[in-house]
Amino acid sequence: MLLAIETSCDETGVAIFSSEGKLLKDYLYSQVALHSPFGGIVPEIASRKQLEVLYPLVKMALGEVGIKPTDLKAIAATFGPGLLGSLLVGVTFTKTLALTLNVPLFAIDHLEAHIFSVLFERDIPFPFLGLLVSGGHTALFLVRGYDSLELLGHTRDDAAGEAFDKAAKLLGLPYPGGPVISKLAEKGDPHRYHLPRPMLDEGNYDFSFSGLKTALYQLVRGERDLAREDLCASFEHAICEVLVEKTLRASRDFGVPRIVVAGGVSANQHLRKLFMERAHGEEVFFPSLHLCTDNAVMVGYLGWIKWMSGESGDLIREPYTRAVYKRKD
Ligand code: KG4
Ligand code: ZN
Repeated sequence: MLLAIETSCDETGVAIFSSEGKLLKDYLYSQVALHSPFGGIVPEIASRKQLEVLYPLVKMALGEVGIKPTDLKAIAATFGPGLLGSLLVGVTFTKTLALTLNVPLFAIDHLEAHIFSVLFERDIPFPFLGLLVSGGHTALFLVRGYDSLELLGHTRDDAAGEAFDKAAKLLGLPYPGGPVISKLAEKGDPHRYHLPRPMLDEGNYDFSFSGLKTALYQLVRGERDLAREDLCASFEHAICEVLVEKTLRASRDFGVPRIVVAGGVSANQHLRKLFMERAHGEEVFFPSLHLCTDNAVMVGYLGWIKWMSGESGDLIREPYTRAVYKRKD
C-alpha cells in the first residue's frame, strides 16, 4: 500500500493506493471557505489548518481501508512548489512516518503531478505537450517521459488562475474567481469588450496575464453600465484564446500532436471547448473535473510510478517554494 499526501496550498489531500496502483481511498479537505473572505489565500491560516487536519484525515483513511500504518510500504508527498508553511506540514509528517516505518518517501513535484494526473485515467503515448494552468503556475512542457519534462515557456507574471482570481476580486466576486467568472461568462458575449491578447504574436511560448487584469481594471473604472456577464465572458475568452493558440502553435512547431491540459484552470469549460474548436488533427486531453484542482490522487499516482520503477526515495530532500525546470534549448 502507498500513502499519498498533498499539502502544497490550501487543500489537504490524502489518498491510499494498493501496491498494484489501484486507488483505494481519496480524501480532500478544502479550506476555501476560510480564505474566501480575504479574496485570496492567507498562508499563515493555510499552514495552521493543514496541521490541524492532516493527521485526522490520514487516520480516517487508514481506518476506512482497514489497514494499519505498518501495512504501508511506500509514501509520496508534494515537496513543492507551493507555500512553504503548508508544504512543511506534509513533508515533516511524511518524513517522520517514512523513517518510523522504514519505507521509501517519494518527493513529488506539484506541477508534474498535475500533468501526469491525466495518465492516471487514460493511456497517452509519449511525447506530448503538457499545459499546466493553475492558480500558482502557467507553464508549457514538452513531455517525453515521466522523468523527462522540458520547459518550453511559462508565465512572466501572473498565472492564468491568478488572473481569474484577481479579476473576480476587482469585480467584487468571491474567491476562487475561476469558477465564478466562468459561470457568469456562460450567459455573456465574449466579443462585447475588447481586451488584449498578451504575447499572442510573440515567437516564444511564454505567457503574461497581469496586463489583462490592468485592462479589465481600466474598463471597470471607465464605464458605468457594465454588463457583468459580458465582461466575464470577454475576460475568460481572452485568457483562453492565448492559452489555446500558443499551445497549438507549439504543438505544430514541435510536431507533437498530443496535448495534455491540467491544473485548476483546466476545469474551465470554455477552455475545453475552444481547444476542441481550434485543434485540427491535434488530440487534446483533460483530467476529470475532480482531478483538475489540487488532490492527493495525482500525488499517489506519480509516487506509485516512482515506486514501481525502483526509485529509492527522497528522504533527505527539502520542500521548495519555486520550481526550476530545465528549459528546452
Ligand atoms: O491547481 P489548483 O487547484 O491550485 C494550484 O495549484 O494553484 O488551481 C486553482 C486555480 C484557482 O486560481 C481557480 O480560480 C482556478 O484554478 N480554477 C478555475 C476554474 N476552476 C478552478 N479557473 C477557471 N475556470 C474554472 N472553472
Ligand atoms: Zn495545483
